[in-house]
Amino acid sequence: MLILFLTTAHNSMSQRMYAELTGRGHRIAIQIVNSEQDMIDAAERHEPELILAPFLKIMIPKSVWSRHTTLVVHPGIKGDRGPFSLDWAIMDGNEEWGVTLLQADEEMDAGDIWATAHFRMKNVSKSRLYRHEVTQAAVKCVLEAIESIGKNDFRPEPLDYSKDDVKGKLHPKITQADRRIDWAQTTEAIAKKIRAADSHPGVLDEMFGQPVYLFGAHEEDLLKGVPGEILGYRDGAVCRATGDGAIWITHVKPKGCFKLPAALAFKDRLDLIPHLPLSPFAKYEGRTYREIFYEEKNRVGYLHFDFYNGAMSTEQCIRLKEAYLEASKRDIKVIVLMGGIDFWSNGIHLNVIEHAESPADESWANINAMNDLVREIVLTGSRITISAMQGNAGAGGVILALAADRVYAREGIVLNPHYKKMGGLYGSEYWTYLLPGRVGPNKALELTEQCLPIGTASAESIGLVDGVFGEDQEAFCSRVEQIAQELAESPNYAQFLQAKREKRFKDEQSKPLEHYRSEELRKMRINFYGENPAYHEARRQFVYKLSCSVEAAGDVRSETAVT
Ligand code: COA
Repeated sequence: MLILFLTTAHNSMSQRMYAELTGRGHRIAIQIVNSEQDMIDAAERHEPELILAPFLKIMIPKSVWSRHTTLVVHPGIKGDRGPFSLDWAIMDGNEEWGVTLLQADEEMDAGDIWATAHFRMKNVSKSRLYRHEVTQAAVKCVLEAIESIGKNDFRPEPLDYSKDDVKGKLHPKITQADRRIDWAQTTEAIAKKIRAADSHPGVLDEMFGQPVYLFGAHEEDLLKGVPGEILGYRDGAVCRATGDGAIWITHVKPKGCFKLPAALAFKDRLDLIPHLPLSPFAKYEGRTYREIFYEEKNRVGYLHFDFYNGAMSTEQCIRLKEAYLEASKRDIKVIVLMGGIDFWSNGIHLNVIEHAESPADESWANINAMNDLVREIVLTGSRITISAMQGNAGAGGVILALAADRVYAREGIVLNPHYKKMGGLYGSEYWTYLLPGRVGPNKALELTEQCLPIGTASAESIGLVDGVFGEDQEAFCSRVEQIAQELAESPNYAQFLQAKREKRFKDEQSKPLEHYRSEELRKMRINFYGENPAYHEARRQFVYKLSCSVEAAGDVRSETAVT
């Protein structure tokens, strides 16, 4: 079936739908739309059998939905209408929520219902909910609807508020007044408000007397102070006292600027507040914040690195490398790199780079720090290494995973193993060694040139990952633990290590690892310091969200791709 996506952005939801549907043999045309005319033109151009709006912020014109079956993903239960559905669902403390697939109609969110799916709410941010439960439920709805199209007796259900299972309602727009924080409130209440607005638009508040939007809330159980007082900083985050405890805020967005680690945004004020470092290996009696932490069980080490948005700055890469080296000295047989729950990694930290005095120097430092980390993993000869990708990954973040001996992915994550869209960036992280090593040179070229997202089924079929499992994070992690345990206890463990060392030795003889790095960096130096400012321009557009990076780069598809 030819399906046209009308979407405000080809975001994680739209990419996941793309991967699921192309994987089932459908042809997809993607149209990023900003106006009614964009939608009319796209529908005329493609004459699709179905139109799907995975993430659309504007109304679809009648001339489109009256001629084509047009289904809209709405992140709310039956009867829920209006913007900010998830924000309200979190703020209202709902225990269960859902996704409904609606037929586009005269009135927003009031069309006939094609499918609906529910999930239990978790105490997580809106974006985490969106990337996991909401996306999973939306995929279920879309697949169900596509099956329904083939059934003669299928009729979508008109919205009828008198029905018992129609529990949603039309809710108002949410404002910053609704989101406002009173620091004398409990930690739980404040965390909920910040999470309902994370990753967009954030909660408007003041820090050091400056108006900023807050993101990345983590409860703190031990520190206390006068409500609103800044108690200290750690790993880019600041800790602030609440009515009954404290909360860590990892990111702030000053008005008119872009998101930054909170401690970096206020680095001039840090000498006024205590630094509260906490080793990834230290025990802590209670909830707190640390983006890198280590756990160990039955001679398997699990290294978590839950970096906000998967972005890894120079400093974060260095800290992770140090933690990795420390973990590798322990009495363990297997190291599992766990990444974060939402993202495995999205490569170098474009916001921190943009903020730097010299973005070119910072880009250079960041890519080298990333390379140093990848190098240590590749050269680990005395332990089996596993990458356990719980969340999406992009650019150098995908390559980071390939540095390990085994790569496993949670079912349904989306991978973007390419760099070029960021203003023609060449990429490093030893990708010229690791990517062809896994998928062969032709596929590596295709992935890096076509710049398309790939789903886990394709990733497994081309050998990019070794296994895909776990419908949710819990199921994925428990299977990873089982695999790691079996490897650690395997009678063939010594042979695995031996084979790994031999392969590395052979590879080194054929071409030294450092040659890959220097060749890649030669090209990256031109991206960072050369006359063509395409990378700097694309990065600026990306961090300021001026337009989609696809268009900014201007080197891949400008708007529509049919596959
Ligand atoms: N640095 C800083 N922030 C990053 C980032 C990076 N490398 N990659 C993603 N983000 C942020 C986005 O700005 C966005 O922030 P927001 O939630 O505050 O809006 C968030 O992470 C999610 O990214 P988004 O682009 O909305 O997710 P997606 O699933 O639609 O797309 C990617 C995923 C990977 C295709 C896209 O994020 C991307 O192109 N990232 C840049 C990758 C890159 O070029 N890295 C540098 C080279 S190694």
